[in-house]
Amino acid sequence: MTDAAALAATHAACFTVPRPWSAAEFDDLLAGPGAFLLGNPRAFLLGRALAGEAELLTLAVDLALRRRGIARELLAEFADRAARLGAEEAFLEVAADNVAARSLYLRNGWVEAGLRPRYYGPATDAIVMRSRLETAQQGG
Ligand SMILES: CC(C)(COP(=O)(O)OP(=O)(O)OC[C@H]1O[C@@H](n2cnc3c(N)ncnc32)[C@H](O)[C@@H]1OP(=O)(O)O)[C@@H](O)C(=O)NCCC(=O)NCCS
Repeated sequence: MTDAAALAATHAACFTVPRPWSAAEFDDLLAGPGAFLLGNPRAFLLGRALAGEAELLTLAVDLALRRRGIARELLAEFADRAARLGAEEAFLEVAADNVAARSLYLRNGWVEAGLRPRYYGPATDAIVMRSRLETAQQGG
């Protein structure tokens, strides 16, 4: 059983924009089709793979654990899992002013694919990013 309250606590410590998600929201997302959770409650990635496309819904690493390569590892695991679930391409949205995350994604094979103006409120645009996934190997 996933500890949604612990996920929500880490998420709240990591995000003001977008607003933190509640434990109930995590439970709902995790119960949805194609959803998967990687990592642990202090450093996790929530993804979804459906109909040939994957979405990175959120990624959060506790402040005390940062700059150790954990997010990079979670991204690699995400790509692997999503490909195994049949996705050929992945998408995410990131706040335009989130320098750390944008740098992380750009350095790990993601490209900027669009802009959603004021997506996170009047002052904050979202950048849409895309990553092509390697076709999953058979039998793994
Ligand atoms: C963004 C975040 C997930 C990165 O987690 P992390 O485990 O510290 O990242 P990693 O150690 O794997 O870093 C990998 C690369 O990302 C980039 N990066 C990470 N943090 C960075 C920072 N503060 N400033 C600039 N680049 C950064 C660097 O290129 C880094 O490689 P390097 O350490 O060799 O320079 C983490 O800072 C976080 O949880 N932030 C708040 C929530 C958030 O913004 N989530 C993503 C929103 S979509």
